[in-house]
Amino acid sequence: MTVYLNGQFMPLEDARIPVLDRGFIFGDGVYEVIPVYSRHAFRLADHLRRLQHSLDGIRLPNPHSDAEWTSLVNDLISRNPGEDQYLYLHITRGVARRDHAFPVPPVTPTLFMMSNPLTTPPAALLQSGIGAVTATDNRWLRCDIKSIALLPNVLLRQMAVDAGCAETILIRDDSYVTEGSASNIFVVRHGTLLAPPKDNLMLPGITYDVVLELAAGDGIPHQVRRIAKAELLDADELLLTSSTKEVLAITKLDGMQVGNGTPGPMFARLHKLYQDFKRNVMRKS
Ligand code: PDD
Repeated sequence: MTVYLNGQFMPLEDARIPVLDRGFIFGDGVYEVIPVYSRHAFRLADHLRRLQHSLDGIRLPNPHSDAEWTSLVNDLISRNPGEDQYLYLHITRGVARRDHAFPVPPVTPTLFMMSNPLTTPPAALLQSGIGAVTATDNRWLRCDIKSIALLPNVLLRQMAVDAGCAETILIRDDSYVTEGSASNIFVVRHGTLLAPPKDNLMLPGITYDVVLELAAGDGIPHQVRRIAKAELLDADELLLTSSTKEVLAITKLDGMQVGNGTPGPMFARLHKLYQDFKRNVMRKS
């Protein structure tokens, strides 16, 4: 695998960073995950916009223009095997003597990118759906920043794994749904697709946008609004979205069946729309 580190392409084994990197010491950095279909980085402009939002959120100047990022991303894609990949892009505030405050004068940010083959969920998982658990969303109030400091997400996700499940759905203030530990969550009730609003409490997912656009385009009733915990627990269907998982049905929640315990009609419809969109648009633009 060829990776990119601070201006150079190299084999993964050769990529090294100093131990005083603020990403290593403080988790002081941001990242992006960009799906690549038929070697086209999907919605790169949107991912770069979200990257800028994350960088602004941590007050780190963007080391590259969008044109420079585009050329670096395409270069990395072309150097790696696989028509479908998922590209990981990571920027930290750089290497400095350990002090919580920003280094003065600023140091050069550390920039790392890698690209792995993208394996989308297998057919068996699409047919069965996945299990999820709920947990208190105990993260900070800037979940709109795609921060590399992911310890809360790591611990929350492990709760799902420990329960034999695939994702943890996060509840704020014991009252409403925000997102999953590494995904966005949609709730279906009485034929309407419900999506939590993009605010500071969730990551504005690119796949979330796609699903809402597909729903609007196909005349699926949908609402973007706060979703009460009670609505989650009493949902007809639950869906999860992310760049790597696409759209998945959640068929078990906290050990209980969601709806009749199998992926429902809203999942089937959106999954088909998503696959059609992937074939006709994502692979070409
Ligand atoms: N995670 N919410 C959180 C907390 C996430 O980490 C992710 C994605 C999403 C979905 O965003 P998108 O549709 O843009 O992938 C929502 C990536 C895949 C990751 O950390 O690996």
